[in-house]
Amino acid sequence: MTVTFDRHRRLRTSAAMRNLVREHHVRKEDLIYPLFFVEGTGIKEQIPSMPGVYHFSLDQIEAEFKEIVDLGIQSVIVFGVPNEKDACGSQAYADDGITQQAIRRIKALYPHLIVIADTCLCQYTDHGHCGVLHDGIVENDESLELLARTAVSQAKAGADIIAPSNMMDGFVAAIRQGLDEAGFTNIPVMSYAVKYASAYYGPFRDAAHSTPQSGDRKSYQMDPANAREGLREAASDVMEGADFLIVKPGLAYMDMVLRLREGFDLPIVAYNVSAEYSMVKAAAQNGWINEQQIVMETMVGFKRAGADLIITYHAKDIARWLNGGN
Ligand code: PBG
Ligand code: ZN
Repeated sequence: MTVTFDRHRRLRTSAAMRNLVREHHVRKEDLIYPLFFVEGTGIKEQIPSMPGVYHFSLDQIEAEFKEIVDLGIQSVIVFGVPNEKDACGSQAYADDGITQQAIRRIKALYPHLIVIADTCLCQYTDHGHCGVLHDGIVENDESLELLARTAVSQAKAGADIIAPSNMMDGFVAAIRQGLDEAGFTNIPVMSYAVKYASAYYGPFRDAAHSTPQSGDRKSYQMDPANAREGLREAASDVMEGADFLIVKPGLAYMDMVLRLREGFDLPIVAYNVSAEYSMVKAAAQNGWINEQQIVMETMVGFKRAGADLIITYHAKDIARWLNGGN
């Protein structure tokens, strides 16, 4: 009997052979590390649902940023958690708001670190929605003006990239115009283009104190059942001038990473969100999984799907592993 078949195993015979034919790699430069800043002094408090992730007051960040830079991470995304909230989120665009102060402080410490500002209103509004609320409705066009103001104040503070996560229609156009008019023509917009209304943001909302007080975000964030709609969202953002496209969450939406990779030429970013992190940490703490292997497999999965960059709370761990540590 002669059976003919392909011998795929030829290319898997040794570690060196597997290294030789490896198609995708995770680099430290691919990682964007999220951080949360609070007002006050002397605060470095672990977020209970996100082991290893902290609330920092600005007097406590020096050691943290030395570690980040020493590990070889070159980009961070910053979230401010203000004490004061009001109906129109005025701390979002206050020049001395917590986010603006954090950006200034980080850039003073490490001018070469890329500081990305998340641009939204939900941490700053007393109702917890990502835009202005009237009679239970999140007003699209009224919110745009405040979002543009927020972006400009973040750029003024020294942000290198503006990352709007609010999912209002036209937000990229409004922010691009605001930045250009203020002279920030060189500041790129990293758009949360394809962002779903997801339960995977649960731990983040504990960290950012941004849970909506009433209702949910389904009238602006996308239905998890929709893929074609995500392509329309991305196409609008590209037309409006986005420089990067984010898919969020990452893991349950890897198909969208691939679709954007195939449909658009911009850098694609996968956001490995808070609950994806918390689930791994919880299982690892129980000794149920090999954390390093699980995380690295997920990361190379994002790269294989077509992501250029990954926003992840695991970034410091990954950088340490890539540096040969454990
Ligand atoms: C703000 C924002 C959220 C996240 C990033 N920016 C929360 C939300 O939209 O409800 C989620 C990030 C995460 O879960 O890690 N709009
Ligand atoms: Zn928001």
